[in-house]
Amino acid sequence: MKQYVCVTGADRGLGLGFTKQFLNKGYHVFAGQYMSSWKELEALHAEYPDTLYIVDLDISNDESVKKAGQYISSVTDSLDILVNNGAIIGDTKKTIYDELDFDHILNVINVTGLGGLRVTNALIPLIMNSETKLIVNISSEAGSIGQCTRKAWYGYMMAKASVNMHAAITQNMIYEDGGQVLNFHPGWVQSYMSGELNTAAAISADESAENLVGLIARHKEFAGSAPAFIDNLGNPQLW
Ligand SMILES: NC(=O)c1ccc[n+]([C@@H]2O[C@H](COP(=O)([O-])OP(=O)(O)OC[C@H]3O[C@@H](n4cnc5c(N)ncnc54)[C@H](OP(=O)(O)O)[C@@H]3O)[C@@H](O)[C@H]2O)c1
Repeated sequence: MKQYVCVTGADRGLGLGFTKQFLNKGYHVFAGQYMSSWKELEALHAEYPDTLYIVDLDISNDESVKKAGQYISSVTDSLDILVNNGAIIGDTKKTIYDELDFDHILNVINVTGLGGLRVTNALIPLIMNSETKLIVNISSEAGSIGQCTRKAWYGYMMAKASVNMHAAITQNMIYEDGGQVLNFHPGWVQSYMSGELNTAAAISADESAENLVGLIARHKEFAGSAPAFIDNLGNPQLW
C-alpha cells in the first residue's frame, strides 16, 4: 500500500533532506516548494518521477495552502505523515531596549508559528484518514520557554513557542482517534536560515534528516496523551 508524506519548505536545508530520506524509503512525497529558483527538487524529480510531487506552497498564505491541499486531495485521500518544516528566522539582534519592528515580527510569526498550523488545518482530514496519522513539527530548542537564555530573537522564539502549543492543543484533539503530534529540535543544522549555508553548525541537514526519519519510524515509542518534544538524538527537550 502506498504511504504518503508531505514536507513543507522542501526547497533546501532540512526539508530537502527529509524529502530525500522519505523518497529513498519508498514513500510518495509531496514536497512543498516555496521558491522555484532552487533547482534541487527538480533534480530529485528526475530521479523519482513517480513518487515525488512538487507542490507550490507558501505556508504563510491561506490561498496557497488551500490550493496545495486541493492538489494533494486530488492525488490521495490519505496522508500518513505531515512534516511542518518551513520557517524563517527574521531578526535576531533587537532587544527590548531597541525599537522593535512589529510588522517584521508578525511576518516571522505568520510563517514560522502559524504556517504549520495552517497546513495541518488544511490536511487534517487526509491525515486522520491514514494509517499513521502523524504530524511532525520541526520546532526548536529556541521555542522552549523552560530553557530560554537568549535576550533577543523575539519573532522566531515566540513563533516556535507557539508551534509547541499548536502541538499540545492538536494532540489533545486527535489523540483518542489514534493521531499523534511529534515535535523535534533538529540540532544545530548546517542550513540556509541565516541567508547563506552555515558551515559552522554541528551537523549537516542530511544527517539531521536521517536521524529524524529514524525517530519518526519509531514514533509509537513517543506516543502518549501529550506530544513528545525531542531532539534529533531522541533526547527530551524542555517545553
Ligand atoms: N538550522 C538550525 O540549526 C535549526 C535549529 C532548530 C530548528 N530549525 C528548524 O528547522 C527547520 C528547517 O530549517 P533549515 O535549518 O533547514 O533552514 P532553511 O534552509 O532556511 O530551510 C527553511 C525552509 O523553509 C522554506 N520557507 C521559507 N518561507 C516559507 C514559506 N512562507 N512557505 C513555505 N516554505 C518557506 C525555505 O524556502 P527557501 O529556501 O526557498 O526560502 C526553506 O526551504 C525550520 O523549521 C527551522 O526553524 C533549524
